[in-house]
Amino acid sequence: MTDEPKAPGRPAYPPGYDPVTHTYTPPIGPDGVPIYPEGYDPVTHRFTPPKPAGPPVASGGAAAGDPAKCPVDHGHHPYHSAEPSYAADGSRRTMLVTGASRGIGHSIVRKFADQGWRIITISRHAFERSRCPWEAGPEDHVQCDLADREQVPLAIVDIKARIGGGPLHALVNNAGISPKGPAGERLNSITTPMYTWMQVFHVNMLAPILLARGLFDELKRGQGSIVNITSVVGHRVHPFAGTAYATSKAALTSLTREMAADFAPHGIRVNAIAPGEIITDILSPGTEEKFLPLIPMRRLGRPEEVAELVHFLCSEASSYITGEEININGGQLL
Ligand SMILES: NC(=O)c1ccc[n+]([C@@H]2O[C@H](COP(=O)([O-])OP(=O)(O)OC[C@H]3O[C@@H](n4cnc5c(N)ncnc54)[C@H](OP(=O)(O)O)[C@@H]3O)[C@@H](O)[C@H]2O)c1
Repeated sequence: MTDEPKAPGRPAYPPGYDPVTHTYTPPIGPDGVPIYPEGYDPVTHRFTPPKPAGPPVASGGAAAGDPAKCPVDHGHHPYHSAEPSYAADGSRRTMLVTGASRGIGHSIVRKFADQGWRIITISRHAFERSRCPWEAGPEDHVQCDLADREQVPLAIVDIKARIGGGPLHALVNNAGISPKGPAGERLNSITTPMYTWMQVFHVNMLAPILLARGLFDELKRGQGSIVNITSVVGHRVHPFAGTAYATSKAALTSLTREMAADFAPHGIRVNAIAPGEIITDILSPGTEEKFLPLIPMRRLGRPEEVAELVHFLCSEASSYITGEEININGGQLL
């Protein structure tokens, strides 16, 4: 992902736009979210001329191997599926994944792209075309800081527009942050700054429910599956992961249960996956040395192993499972 400022420049605001609150005057949609005009970019708060009418590339995804869309040689690219996958009602299987730019989220995209899903992604940074890990790429990437409570509702509006009244079959709340102190030290319940508490809870716990609620109609239409990525550290004190992180994940475990009960009558399943130590950027230096003796399988986990489990929970194979948190940790809690 490239490092781009999240709100560059001062936009030319249209009538009805309040640059202080970043809101428009009504109309307000049925879900309470303001409806923004076509061409509005909720991240930069800018307008661009609407695209000409015609079949949107984003809904079907670019054809694999289309050189106009992606510089990668798709014939040799493992991420791309030539065969789109369709649900029973004939709609293209569509998912939203947060934090897909690297780590576990990246593996989730690879897995679902291989299965022919259309994948919409969210992260703070712009889509990096050179990596081009999925078909529609930038057309289906929403740039949003999930810690920013003003940006999340705007991102929801953007995603709704991209889905265009269709179904959403899966929402994977994967983005997560685990801040450390200035010298990389663990932030405990005494040393965690208030700002950090707020930021961690926003990204790790609030964003999942805001997205699920905001996209409720789409998820109901798709009889979708929500997967929240929690953590082993929600269940016991960890030498590296801080208190705010641990408690946000414990809250997300509890939220998963609550959501499962509330969403089940609408045909939406909600489950969680609690990884142990998985090889990604989020791990602290020294994790391997510290944990290998404590993990009965004597190895760290791989992101693709988590992605397999996410796929299972979003597939028909798990059609009667809801409200569960599944551990994937090589036996770390035994
Ligand atoms: N790896 C592990 O051992 C492990 C263990 C237990 C649980 N988990 C959980 O698994 C999930 C994925 O972890 P990971 O190891 O793959 O982490 P990672 O490699 O650090 O990736 C985190 C992802 O979240 C995105 N992200 C971070 N802050 C964001 C924000 N404010 N707004 C939007 N996107 C944001 C990042 O993209 P940008 O930087 O582009 O925004 C990135 O794509 C997390 O929820 C984590 O807590 C991981």
